[in-house]
Amino acid sequence: MRIYKTKDYDEMSRTAANIISAQVILKPESLLGLATGSSPIGVYDQLVEWYKKGDLDFSKVTTVNLDEYKGLPKENKQSYYYFMHEYLFDKVNINVENTYLPDGMNMDSEAEACRYEDLLASLGQVDLQLLGLGHNGHIGFNEPGDVFEKATHCVDLKESTIEANKRFFASADDVPRQAYSMGIGTILKSKKLLVVVSGEGKAEALKNSICGPVTPHVPGSILQFHPDVTIVADEAALSKVP
Ligand code: F6R
Repeated sequence: MRIYKTKDYDEMSRTAANIISAQVILKPESLLGLATGSSPIGVYDQLVEWYKKGDLDFSKVTTVNLDEYKGLPKENKQSYYYFMHEYLFDKVNINVENTYLPDGMNMDSEAEACRYEDLLASLGQVDLQLLGLGHNGHIGFNEPGDVFEKATHCVDLKESTIEANKRFFASADDVPRQAYSMGIGTILKSKKLLVVVSGEGKAEALKNSICGPVTPHVPGSILQFHPDVTIVADEAALSKVP
């Protein structure tokens, strides 16, 4: 596990964007795994800037996203489909036909989980998966629990996640209670994992993920078992790591 400590969010974003851009330059037809939330916004902004300067070409890139809220249509500004278009897909020369997310409007949880997992299998191994870390240690929407979920599944979001994400919605009541998420097993299949973490609020979750026992009660702790993990975190997020 490599850990890059950065001064702040901006430096974290630039460092992680450098790693993603190196991946795309070295392998233009990369399969990238993407995340949403506030952690990767700066990374996407930086990638867009480099694209506009002519330094990056996304035309051959394929992307798969970690997760999507169940029950939110694509046009809903809080859907992860909308987020990805807003921050990245509509701003670079990616072929949107090659961008994939779980279908939040498929109400048949089992069918959607199988469809997405099969789709991922058909695309092959993800070259680089970008991840954020939840305050409760979740990765994707794999919430703390008694088991590591293997494959894509429908998740009942924890109260703490609904609380953390309500900032994007009019009220906590508007936050969907369920989401589709790649499983821990799905995430671990990626060749490389790149985790961006910022702020003191994540310090405990990051410490437990990096230094604590590997347990499904801290889903991020599974990162310790992957052979190629890069964590890019700012000083505040790393403040509890000895
Ligand atoms: C989002 C995702 C989540 C977030 C996590 C942190 O696609 O998979 O695991 O990465 O909830 O969210 P932020 O970055 O908003 O603190």
